[in-house]
Amino acid sequence: MNDKALPRHVAIIMDGNGRWAKQHMLKVALGHRAGVEALRAIIRESSDLNIDTLSLFAFSTENWRRSETEVAALMQLLLEYFMSEIDELDENNVRIRILGEKDGLPAPQRRALEAAEERTKGNTGLNLCIAINYGGRQEIIRAARMLAQKALSGELSPEQIDEKAFSDCLYTAGLPDVDLLIRTSGEMRLSGFLLYQCAYAEFLFPETLWPDFTLEDYHRALEAYAARDRRFGGRTWSNES
Ligand code: IPE
Ligand code: IPE
Ligand code: MG
Repeated sequence: MNDKALPRHVAIIMDGNGRWAKQHMLKVALGHRAGVEALRAIIRESSDLNIDTLSLFAFSTENWRRSETEVAALMQLLLEYFMSEIDELDENNVRIRILGEKDGLPAPQRRALEAAEERTKGNTGLNLCIAINYGGRQEIIRAARMLAQKALSGELSPEQIDEKAFSDCLYTAGLPDVDLLIRTSGEMRLSGFLLYQCAYAEFLFPETLWPDFTLEDYHRALEAYAARDRRFGGRTWSNES
């Protein structure tokens, strides 16, 4: 695949851990654990392919509605993930960014996420965005508040609020828009993921449950993306002359 056909920003809604656990007659926490295993190869490959940004949906603002046991298992897994992976990610020049409200997380998780961001902030390889306690509407409302505050303080006039000023107030400030969004497990919805950034994204909804998602599935998705005709409202063919 040539580099031009590669997406700059891939976003993945890693869905299906619960159904995978059910299929294997395991507790749901083990489904999430299997999901983390699937993740490693996808991150490494994105890095090797020189993809600019990979964004992963790990925990939504709505996921607090799940049982206390499941939320606790997810939080524990998060902590373990950062402890076990941070060295390798850093060695591979990966820059970690957390999308979402870190303040709403338990203190140990918040500290681990902040430490990972701080440690990797000078890295120049893959931008790895992990969405935790993230909601797309919440992100947009937060940006609106930030802009209102700037307008009030006189730092910005309302006329100066354009796409650049707005996207600079999103968690993904400075990163490219999403080119390819993949949601596994056959569900066909965004569940609020990167609402603003997905305005012109190409969508793929493979049936595979996230823990079963392999490099082969990833390559297939990248090939399907390369075959898409992205028009951005224009026309890529003409029969006018
Ligand atoms: C996605 O898997 C992971 C999280 C939401 C944390 P699910 O847990 O939503 O899996 P299903 O949808 O129940 O199969
Ligand atoms: C979206 O999946 C959030 C993550 C994958 C982290 P959900 O499984 O929570 O979404 P819904 O509830 O099916 O829309
Ligand atoms: Mg789900």
